Amino acid sequence: MRNSVSTFQKLKNEGKKISMLTAYDYSMAKIIDESGVNGILVGDSLGMVIKGEDNTLSVTVDEIIYHTKAVKKGAKNSLIVSDMPFLSYHISNEKAIENAGRIIKEGGANAVKLEGGANVINQLKAIVDAQIPVMGHLGLTPQSINALGGFKIQGKNEDAARKLIEDAKLIEKAGAFAIVLECIPKEVAELITKEISIPTIGIGAGNKCDGQILVYQDMLGMFDDFVPKFVKQYANVGNTMRESIKTYIGEVEEGFFPQDKHSFKINETELKKLY
Ligand code: KIV
Repeated sequence: MRNSVSTFQKLKNEGKKISMLTAYDYSMAKIIDESGVNGILVGDSLGMVIKGEDNTLSVTVDEIIYHTKAVKKGAKNSLIVSDMPFLSYHISNEKAIENAGRIIKEGGANAVKLEGGANVINQLKAIVDAQIPVMGHLGLTPQSINALGGFKIQGKNEDAARKLIEDAKLIEKAGAFAIVLECIPKEVAELITKEISIPTIGIGAGNKCDGQILVYQDMLGMFDDFVPKFVKQYANVGNTMRESIKTYIGEVEEGFFPQDKHSFKINETELKKLY
């Protein structure tokens, strides 16, 4: 049965950890889902790892819907959460509900995620009131890259940490079902996790969060433009791919691939007629 927002809450209540990974297409979603994660995020990180941009700002609602559709087909058990892109929820409550609604109706997501605290709390509540589950996102919020002045660790002094705790409480009160905490000191993430009753999902936020999320290209060693400190590479799939592709090129050049077992045949009688 598919994980739901209730599954996430139940796991927190029982003190069990929640695992999430990103996915953006059918075949990866299928592998990740079959491996047993609780949730898949169709993240706007696709701007960087799929589109090759320097940041997430150019991602559109249509792109999120396109990728969510593919992920939904591949993932039968995970809760599918899709990111609301930059400026798709800032303009008004109505626009926020409309865009979240499209991601659910057209893309097939089970929930949406949006970045920010007090500054977007009205929109977050409006989406929740429209019966769409919302995941919050605090700390290093990549959509604010220009305002933050780069990809920097957040919540490093008392005021900044207090603001994060206050924002987390506001997000919980507005009805979100979980909050991503990105790139904040582990002690601050632990405090937030204790202070709120909904699950926290960490990325660069230490091991006291209720769950963890990583971008799959990072954890499989498929994206080495920049490897953040919080990433653990569980494999180097990038090297395996490069080696396999080089072998393929060599075999094509030598005429060793394809062999008979990879080829189709016409029967002898039909063949003779061609000569
Ligand atoms: O877009 C994304 O992949 C994310 C995760 C890094 C949490 O927001």
